[in-house]
Amino acid sequence: MTEEKALKPEQQADNAKEIFDKDFEHFNSIDLEGQSLTEAEILQKELGELRARHTGKKSELASVKKLIGKVAPEERAAFGQRVQSIEAEINAAISAAEEKIKTFIANAKIERERLDVTLPGRRVRQGHLHPLTLLRQRIEEIFVSLGYIIEDDREIETDYYNFDALNIPEGHPARESQDTFYTTYGFALRSQTSTVQIRAMERRGVPIRMIAPGRVFRRDTPDPTHVPMFHQVEGLCVEEGISMAHLKGTMEEFLKRLFGEGTKTRFRPSYFPFTEPSAEFDFSCFKCGGTGTFENERCRPCKGSGWIELGGCGMVHPNVLKACGVDPEVYSGFAFGLGLERMCALMYSLDDIRLMFENDVRFLEQFK
Ligand code: FA5
Repeated sequence: MTEEKALKPEQQADNAKEIFDKDFEHFNSIDLEGQSLTEAEILQKELGELRARHTGKKSELASVKKLIGKVAPEERAAFGQRVQSIEAEINAAISAAEEKIKTFIANAKIERERLDVTLPGRRVRQGHLHPLTLLRQRIEEIFVSLGYIIEDDREIETDYYNFDALNIPEGHPARESQDTFYTTYGFALRSQTSTVQIRAMERRGVPIRMIAPGRVFRRDTPDPTHVPMFHQVEGLCVEEGISMAHLKGTMEEFLKRLFGEGTKTRFRPSYFPFTEPSAEFDFSCFKCGGTGTFENERCRPCKGSGWIELGGCGMVHPNVLKACGVDPEVYSGFAFGLGLERMCALMYSLDDIRLMFENDVRFLEQFK
């Protein structure tokens, strides 16, 4: 016989109440002030479990209730009343706590869902275009208005399109692996958008006026003016009777529209295997207007020279036209290519083009 069973029925009844009181202590003068909804919901669950423990079929109280029929008949009424009042006390205590928690939860939910129409709305954070995209779009708009189409082509090319068709012979330094990223099976990441000249002429034939903006790749070590992946815009115009004058006029018009009516253009002789004659083109500095000084100091974008280098250009080499099945006796044309990163850096006074690829929102947000 267990110690418990040895107790008298009255003692067992008191015992059940004592066990309950101890267990219920936590809920006794329950204070929900400052509690969260989740905390209150946890308490509610715990209280439910406590009710099952103390009033359920396997509870101490249930065992005590079973004793009512077993006590001596003359003590039964008094014992029964005692058990009943203990049961009533337990139920009342639990119900009061339950009610308190229920009310708190209901209020907390109302509070959570309350709509304060006076609160300022939460703004949707709107993204914006990358400065390079903005510049590319400006360039595209200008050339489209001059009757050019926009071509897009692959970034992985064969040696033929990257070099041979562009009249870049075997042994030319640009073919060496320090400049070009080679992949497998003789493919390479294009190192210039000039590849699109060939693709576009093959696809569309001539006459043609197109620009081809796109990414290019070179094995250049990153520094403030070099990145291994950058953007170029290629331009090509092939028609009958096109001369260097058209090239100069087009570049002049383009740069005036981009940087303002007063912009001057300058051409310096240069060499590219796919153009003959070739030139580099500069434009008068947009900051100092070509004077070399800005606010009595040496102008930063042009380093005091008054001119900014922009890219390469020239008359399409007859070998390039021939490679595309175009008769150089009938057609002639010009091509140009410029890099966007350095141009963008100049326009926004950035000292380092690598900043454009770090994707730091605090930096990019300045160029909306
Ligand atoms: C060319 O790539 C020629 N395809 C341009 C051309 C096209 C000439 C058509 C004639 C006819 P170049 O290697 O100079 O040229 O590059 C052009 C521009 O790309 C440069 O002026 C520069 O702005 C940019 N550039 C070159 N290397 C890098 C680099 N590592 N990082 C960022 N920009 C670069």
